[in-house]
Amino acid sequence: MLNSLSILDEVAKKLKIDSKEIKFRKDLVGTSTAKVSEISWGKSKIGILKQNTTKVEWLVYSKIATKHKIPTPKIIAISKSSDVPWILLEKIPKSIHPKDWTKENIEAALREIAKLHSKFYNKTDSKEFDNIPVVNEIEWKTIKSNLISNINKALKIAEHYEGKTPLTKTDLEIVKKDLNSKDFIKKFLSSGQTLIHGGTWTYNFLQTSSKIYLLDWQECVIAPPAWDFLHFYDLLPFHVEGFRVKLNELPFTFNELLKIYIDEMKKNKINIKLADFKKSLRAAVSIQIAHLWSPLLKPDVIYLKGGRYYISRTLRLWPSRKAVRQHFSDLLEIRKLK
Ligand SMILES: Nc1ncnc2c1ncn2[C@@H]1O[C@H](COP(=O)(O)OP(=O)(O)O)[C@@H](O)[C@H]1O
Ligand SMILES: [Mg+2]
Repeated sequence: MLNSLSILDEVAKKLKIDSKEIKFRKDLVGTSTAKVSEISWGKSKIGILKQNTTKVEWLVYSKIATKHKIPTPKIIAISKSSDVPWILLEKIPKSIHPKDWTKENIEAALREIAKLHSKFYNKTDSKEFDNIPVVNEIEWKTIKSNLISNINKALKIAEHYEGKTPLTKTDLEIVKKDLNSKDFIKKFLSSGQTLIHGGTWTYNFLQTSSKIYLLDWQECVIAPPAWDFLHFYDLLPFHVEGFRVKLNELPFTFNELLKIYIDEMKKNKINIKLADFKKSLRAAVSIQIAHLWSPLLKPDVIYLKGGRYYISRTLRLWPSRKAVRQHFSDLLEIRKLK
């Protein structure tokens, strides 16, 4: 990696050791372009070094996490400026793999999201949130134009591979119409605004028998909490196993999860009207599809043994097209939520 050397020097300086003392033990698999590795130094010190992370994640760790007791792993060291952002975190010992999560683990994770939302609910105008991207009426024009551009690109692909993509042309057109509809942003904002994590899928949680940690703040943004909730629900069935992706059945219904979330918000003294939250959730579906899924709709060409090219379904690693299409169709049903 380009800046590895200088980063290691910086890390070493912060740890008051020689950079030669730092040993790379192994790389950890994430979903971003950041490089996450387990490193060791001294006699038996171990940490997780995330190099080349985003400015936003750096901001959260350097300015917000400790002060507001966000449930992240402890920060051992962090780069001074955000030019080449890196963070060194305590290593969380053996956690429960998402595929082994029980109902209790799912519920605990969702409550953790609600706790985060309640902490900053409609309280995000202080200086410490400067430079964290915001979804609001002022920014909407720019945000919308990016989302529509994602949809248009995806539409081209869906048209080209007519009938072969899990997000169909019809799905994408529904979303596009939604985003262009009058008062769309008002509806989306009706669940208020808070610091949302932005990547609340199970693999960004670490749960041990006694604690729960929320990792990976790269996508964090000031936005309606309904978006995080929807992201959590949307990604909950997905499981990654090496190069395979599986979609599992959920042990909760949508409404059960909604109840858990609203209940935890109440416990933390935030009362969001259910009707407002639902209004925001309906809009969040289109945001989610345009923001997250549409850019993933690209034909990847995988070279197979027999010398044949094969156009994969959406991601490199999809399960069956039928299963994913059902997932999207269920997701789009939330737009009709009463
Ligand atoms: N402090 C930590 N302790 C233990 N494992 C960690 C820690 N930080 C990250 N990991 C592991 O590394 C993976 C990638 O880290 P993450 O911050 O999510 O990177 P990415 O942004 O690339 O997804 C996580 O899913 C988790 O399994
Ligand atoms: Mg991650």
